[in-house]
Amino acid sequence: MKLSILLSLFATTSVAQVIKRDASSNLRIMNWNLRNDGKPNDITIDETINNLPKNVPNDENVSFYTDYEEAPWSDRRIGVANEVLFNSPDVFTVNEALHRQVEDLKELLGWPYIGVGRDDGGESGEYEAIYYNPSKLNLISNDTFWLSDKPFEPSKYPGAGYYRDATVCLFEDSSNGVQFVIINVHLDDESDDQRKYAAALVKYRAGYEYQDKHVPVFLVGDFNSQTSGKSCAAYEITTGSLDFDVSKLNTTFTEKYKNDLSKISLNDLMKAAAPKDRMGHHATFTGFKSDTSSFSRIDFQFGSDPHNGDKLLWEVVRYKGGDNWYDDSFYLSDHRPVITDLIIKN
Ligand SMILES: *[C@@H]1O[C@H](CO)[C@@H](O)[C@H](O)[C@H]1NC(C)=O
Ligand SMILES: *[C@@H]1O[C@H](CO)[C@@H](O)[C@H](O)[C@H]1NC(C)=O
Ligand SMILES: *[C@@H]1O[C@H](CO)[C@@H](O)[C@H](O)[C@H]1NC(C)=O
Repeated sequence: MKLSILLSLFATTSVAQVIKRDASSNLRIMNWNLRNDGKPNDITIDETINNLPKNVPNDENVSFYTDYEEAPWSDRRIGVANEVLFNSPDVFTVNEALHRQVEDLKELLGWPYIGVGRDDGGESGEYEAIYYNPSKLNLISNDTFWLSDKPFEPSKYPGAGYYRDATVCLFEDSSNGVQFVIINVHLDDESDDQRKYAAALVKYRAGYEYQDKHVPVFLVGDFNSQTSGKSCAAYEITTGSLDFDVSKLNTTFTEKYKNDLSKISLNDLMKAAAPKDRMGHHATFTGFKSDTSSFSRIDFQFGSDPHNGDKLLWEVVRYKGGDNWYDDSFYLSDHRPVITDLIIKN
């Protein structure tokens, strides 16, 4: 009797474990700060498409890498959409996109997105939107919180330049049930205190998601924080080389998302990629400039602990610093995309 109960328990657990251990997904994640619609106009997508040059020019009619000034979103959007479609990510996250921009991309990509305008939780202000390929992924749940001392309401951290928020999605590969969480953020450009607080808040939430769902957690976006120098604190808090006292975080938030992993390790996927698997550009911010004076790496993808004991949860297949300027055209954004291929296991 005892033995049979024990045996059936053993059978049930091991079946569950086998199903989970066997599931593995190949996934491409792309994040890109698109630059907001800073030169708005009323030009429709159809008008832009109809105005594209019909003929391919000869060499002598091209001036290479000369058109570096910011072009309106209405001109940039076709190239942005092509860049995304060609790279064919499964998840595509954006920063700085205003309502018109997220709606344009929904139409041009044919994909749904999750996210809200950060100024009111509706359609006002920039979105940290998350698009996903609906033929590969199911959205299981989603959430927004603000990167401020009042995380549950549209709010601005004291002294920050802007309202800032984070979008959280739990996805499942519809072919095999493999799940993962992705969090998309844009930290403040003006306040280092906001960036530190935001990095700690997001890391705390990532710890909760990891502990609650037992699935890999990926954190992506524009951190406005370099990996070294005077504004690197957010990067260092995220990756664990600098501590932040979590008792300073909003206690409603830390109670709701209580976890033992608030110091969860978050790994820079560029570094997690083997040297031979890193490709493309180094800088992710270029500005709209003809020179490299403002180039820096401030857009990142981070992954939670790649191991659970002996078990491998994810690995980077390839990392690419993507393109934002082609030789006969204009900058698609003042940032470049970051693209990773991953294997994710549950
Ligand atoms: C291409 O360049 C040539 C030589 O500068 C010029 O004569 C011609 O008009 C240009 N054609 C177009 C379509 O711009
Ligand atoms: C996102 O989450 C909200 C809050 O739980 C929910 O009302 C909404 O339906 C979700 N959106 C999608 C597309 O599932
Ligand atoms: C924590 O956040 C909640 C919800 O955004 C807010 O109502 C509360 O005042 C905050 N707590 C403190 C101490 O600021």
